[in-house]
Amino acid sequence: MLTAPEILDHSCVRAMNITKTFGQTRAINGLTVDISCGNRVALLGPNGAGKSTVLKLLVGLMKPDFGDITLGGYPVDSMEAKKLLGYLPEDATPYISLTVKENLQYVGAIRGVQDLESRIDYLVSELGLQDFLSTKILKVSRGTRQKVSVAMSIIHQPRIVLMDEPLNYLDIPSQENVIQILSRMNSTFLISTHIMSIAERLTDDVIIMARGQEIWKGKRNELRNLGQSDEPVEAIISRMMKNVR
Ligand SMILES: Nc1ncnc2c1ncn2[C@@H]1O[C@H](COP(=O)(O)OP(=O)(O)OP(=O)(O)O)[C@@H](O)[C@H]1O
Ligand SMILES: [Mg+2]
Repeated sequence: MLTAPEILDHSCVRAMNITKTFGQTRAINGLTVDISCGNRVALLGPNGAGKSTVLKLLVGLMKPDFGDITLGGYPVDSMEAKKLLGYLPEDATPYISLTVKENLQYVGAIRGVQDLESRIDYLVSELGLQDFLSTKILKVSRGTRQKVSVAMSIIHQPRIVLMDEPLNYLDIPSQENVIQILSRMNSTFLISTHIMSIAERLTDDVIIMARGQEIWKGKRNELRNLGQSDEPVEAIISRMMKNVR
């Protein structure tokens, strides 16, 4: 169900003409992002394009130098916006001195998850975390940390999910598990990724950025029309990215 501002707005993620500069580096340069509620969008771009910076701005971890950001029609720094949001940062790390289960219980309690134990059971079983429930994060592998971080970011079934390279560090079966869990959710997604399979399987729309700006936006299947019929989509994207270097 849409809440009042969303009914008026129909835009779940909106950033208008945002700019972010670090010293001499203009990381984001007049970028506009407008994602309708329920849309699933892949954010692609070469290293240093500004993907992680955009996500940090969109979740309110950083303030833009210029431009406005709303989530579900609410200002990004409002409590209403934070309640709608699930965010997986790049190189996410759960609390290292807590166990896998304690991390999930802690975040679930803060987020006010109803029926928390069964939600934890679901995520643990889908992500294959059963053997690590009582293990401190300090002692688990990087891939297992990533699985716990993914679980923590969606434990409250957020309406808006922003993820920065969610498949990082995951083995192939675990990548598959994460894709399955996310594809069952009925949320608005913006997912930055270098892995085309997640874009192909999980998202409908694509934003390609380079040098802090959008260079292409459209339906995922329209991307293929930009190349030869037998050209892999990676080659098409790679050419687009190179053209703006
Ligand atoms: N905290 C920071 N201080 C200074 N410069 C930064 C900071 N964060 C990002 N940058 C710069 O901003 C630009 C965009 O970086 P960002 O991390 O957003 O790129 P990205 O698209 O996520 O790249 P990658 O694919 O490598 O993850 C880069 O030039 C980067 O060096
Ligand atoms: Mg990044």
